[in-house]
Amino acid sequence: MSLQTHIVGVGGYLPERILSNQELSKMVDTSDVWIRERTGITQRHIIAQDQQTSDLAVEAAKQALDDAGLTIDDIDALIVATTTPDMVFPSTASVVQYKLGGKDFPAWDIQAVCSGFIYGLAQADGMMRGGMFKRVLMIGAESMSRIVDWKDRNTCVLFGDGSGAVVLESREEEGGMIGSVLHCDGSYRQLLMAEHQHTRHEPGKPIDFSMDAAGVAAIEMKGNEVFRVAVNKLGEVVGEVLDKYGLQKSDVDWLVPHQANIRILNATAKKMKMETGHMVVTVGEHANTSSASVPLALNHLYRQGSIQTGQILLLEAFAAGFAWGANLIRWSKS
Ligand code: COA
Repeated sequence: MSLQTHIVGVGGYLPERILSNQELSKMVDTSDVWIRERTGITQRHIIAQDQQTSDLAVEAAKQALDDAGLTIDDIDALIVATTTPDMVFPSTASVVQYKLGGKDFPAWDIQAVCSGFIYGLAQADGMMRGGMFKRVLMIGAESMSRIVDWKDRNTCVLFGDGSGAVVLESREEEGGMIGSVLHCDGSYRQLLMAEHQHTRHEPGKPIDFSMDAAGVAAIEMKGNEVFRVAVNKLGEVVGEVLDKYGLQKSDVDWLVPHQANIRILNATAKKMKMETGHMVVTVGEHANTSSASVPLALNHLYRQGSIQTGQILLLEAFAAGFAWGANLIRWSKS
């Protein structure tokens, strides 16, 4: 039989500091009731001043390695999905490799915003089926609080920080990753973005060295337009991935969605005719942690002891770009 990609370890990490809706409503003109009713969010975790995205990634990675009964020396490749890297370069993955005490194996970041983990799983799966790597550490880690405009009530209530990770192992054995579907449509790019101004110099003009060249980025979003497209595209992609791999909606045991807004989650569950008890919901406590959201939700489900061997999981996400996608997994970890 051919090589299959199995999840053999799962981990997650949330920074200690919790920012409640009540606290937020003292910072901007909002209320706990508005945030809960419109988004389902009650709180979010915020990275400590002395932490970086790589530190969050390391904590989730350690837990996933421990869960797999492996060490960093067993890993052949490390991927970090992040939209909030420690710095422009080197990659956060290379920093994480160093902090974990790893050496020599390839490490790189991928950027598909909130769909980063879905994209990363698809990418790792393809490479592993092709025999390129035996064990891959796949992490989603974000410090969204660092790119949120804390004066903008339209966006600051939505995001949080955290990380999630899985250890993947290729084996000639049934189960594991069934397959993935990925999409991107750049014509929507301006509806949700954080312009990173590496310098504030205007293209075509001489460089003004007196200017502060520090990067600034803040999330800008046309919330209701993003909402509308997200509901449509997620509804389509769950059907597409099931069709592609010959499965029915009723075959899915667990829906593990990107956690952006409870109303988006419920719309996809409705489309799937999924009982809400079989959809993972962590948005209330985690808010939108971008690429960390799906692995954190998976970790939550896994730690509850809810997943049985042989069950089908459908992971999905929608992101700026717009970039969206889904992975199907037959759970093979005992
Ligand atoms: N507190 C109180 N009022 C707020 C608010 C807040 N935090 N944020 C926005 N409002 C106000 C708006 O100013 C607007 O007021 P107005 O009618 O006087 O102009 C009103 O609430 C309704 O705004 P609207 O944008 O229509 O609300 P909505 O029902 O679409 O909910 C979002 C807003 C952002 C929660 C929702 O659109 C959403 O979740 N969009 C998708 C976001 C997302 O998933 N992004 C990430 C994708 S990965």
